[in-house]
Amino acid sequence: MSEQIDNVLHENRAFPPSKDFQSQARLNSFEQYQRMYAESLQDPEAFWGRVAQELPWIRPFDQVLDWSDAPFASWFQGGQLNASAICLDQHVANGRGDKLAIRWEGEPGDRRDFTYRELLEEVGRFANVLKARGVQRGDRVAIYMPMIPELTMAVLACARIGAVHSVVFGGFSAQALADRIHDGDCCAVITSDGGWRRGKVLPLKQEVDTALATCKGVHTQLVIRRCGNEVAWDEKRDVWYHEAAEQVGSDCPPEAMESEDLLFLLYTSGSTGKPKGIMHSTGGYMVGAYLSARYIFDLREDDVYWCTADVGWITGHSYIVYGPMANGVTQVMYEGAPNAPAENRFWDICERHGVTVFYTAPTAIRAFMKWGDQHVKRHDLSKLRLLGSVGEPINPEAWMWYRKLVGGDRCPIVDTWWQTETGGIMISPLPGITATHPGCASLPFFGVDAAILDLQGNELGPDQGGLLALQKPWPSMLRGIWGDAKRYRDTYWSKWPGKMVYFAGDGARRDPDGLFWILGRVDDVINVSGHRLSTMEVESALVSHPGVVEAAVVGRPDELTGEAIVAFVIPQGGVTDDPLVIQALSDHVVHEIGKLARPAEIRLTEALPKTRSGKIMRRLLRDIASGREQVQDLSTIENPAVLDQLRGKKA
Ligand code: PRX
Repeated sequence: MSEQIDNVLHENRAFPPSKDFQSQARLNSFEQYQRMYAESLQDPEAFWGRVAQELPWIRPFDQVLDWSDAPFASWFQGGQLNASAICLDQHVANGRGDKLAIRWEGEPGDRRDFTYRELLEEVGRFANVLKARGVQRGDRVAIYMPMIPELTMAVLACARIGAVHSVVFGGFSAQALADRIHDGDCCAVITSDGGWRRGKVLPLKQEVDTALATCKGVHTQLVIRRCGNEVAWDEKRDVWYHEAAEQVGSDCPPEAMESEDLLFLLYTSGSTGKPKGIMHSTGGYMVGAYLSARYIFDLREDDVYWCTADVGWITGHSYIVYGPMANGVTQVMYEGAPNAPAENRFWDICERHGVTVFYTAPTAIRAFMKWGDQHVKRHDLSKLRLLGSVGEPINPEAWMWYRKLVGGDRCPIVDTWWQTETGGIMISPLPGITATHPGCASLPFFGVDAAILDLQGNELGPDQGGLLALQKPWPSMLRGIWGDAKRYRDTYWSKWPGKMVYFAGDGARRDPDGLFWILGRVDDVINVSGHRLSTMEVESALVSHPGVVEAAVVGRPDELTGEAIVAFVIPQGGVTDDPLVIQALSDHVVHEIGKLARPAEIRLTEALPKTRSGKIMRRLLRDIASGREQVQDLSTIENPAVLDQLRGKKA
């Protein structure tokens, strides 16, 4: 059995940045990148020591990195800082207090703007409310909220008083929330009565109430009034935020946190077992988020930045809250769905606010493609100068659409590879330097010693697909899994015995120019007749057919070939029984990749099972494709009604 991943997707299109973009970019020569990159690996103390000094420390650090207790890293030991002061106080102190920090828009169309000074006041008040309820430094606080400004305030208020925030995405069920509250031993929950989603109120407090029935350690539920919906009330435990806020002032000096003090927990699912509470500490995380946001999004004083993620995911933590705010940008924040009230909502927001930098996910891009070009074309997007993508491999087809329709064939696209665990972007084009290629994550960021290894830990040559590994510690790396040091070692640092190397769980290859191409999770790899294929590549082939909206490909056991490819496809014109349609799609894959990739089966469907974060649930599809009984937890599935259709039954 081959242990390499055959790479079958050939992509030769290259899009260098325009002269205009390049001449104004923060980084604009490849030599400069090479010099900085080399220093970041050869002399990380000097490189990161210098970068860290761009942030305001309360007390300077004594040592940049201590890796003697690997894989437990200590960055910027001896230093003290406060993440909320980096995001707010420094800008007010430096004369940017009147600059807009957040331009928020609710789904119903209501709007609120906050300058950095106003946000600092709000966060100070919020922090004082938490203190008044007895929340102390080191306590864990769960946050379960819609995308309203108070979500950002809640996060920064925790950071301000040294409480550890554990944000749980508002789409999770009460059960999932309860599990996370238990695991993190949280003493308080911050929520709202509800949030708007496609014209309906999501009853968030009601979910929290259900969760708290089993979480006796929570003494306070702090509730923001957002929708005015009816809520149940526990006089002892529940507090309206607006009432509590009247009782306190807005002045709250930031706690001096040690660099390695925990800043937050964020839960992420692994391939097995219960969700992992990924631990991020203060100093290294802030340095990583600050620098990566600055260079990868090329942030400038006059930018209007918009990351469409939810703060409940790592993308929101690093590239809505900490990274952009450490850089003092103006950003747009939006509460609701991209198709509420209509499919042009995002482009309408971009036009009205003059968004210049836009960061979203491939799953959203594919939805936009499906909805049709006309929604984009209606709007003037000429202010956009840079686009980003994150979360999964982006199909070249979607990439090209994004570039042409949204980016007007002029904006570079940064396809950013990273994980909850890495804290910040690890592999990405640098927009003023890199010629971008559809589907290519490109270059390792500063301090990222990325390599493609085989199962034995040997580095593979150009264009050989293998396992993506990170060979050196980096500032924003996770510091562990909450309450489970062994699992931390086993999951991430034990793939190659004898080597202290981080295993990302992704497959990738490096092309002859040294650029990285992410092939997807290694458990998404199919082995057909000894050829390992990335499901993503077969999916990309399918999606490049004009009759296909979206496709998910999995393997199922096959006596003859080891594994066979099963494709679940959303067709453009609706599901049909026409065998010619299926034949045409199958031939198309053969045409794009070769016979080895011909799907054994193609099932047409109206939807794919997705998590609430929009990731296709491939494990579930594997079970369905192989006719296995479903034993896994379906609580995180966004659209359970789709299951019958996928199984081939009438819905
Ligand atoms: O498989 C990779 C995929 O998302 C995984 C990390 O997921 P999560 O922790 O939820 O973080 C998502 C947001 C950072 C990775 O192991 N992934 C993320 N970005 C990309 C990607 N795969 C390909 N290309 C990307 N740009």
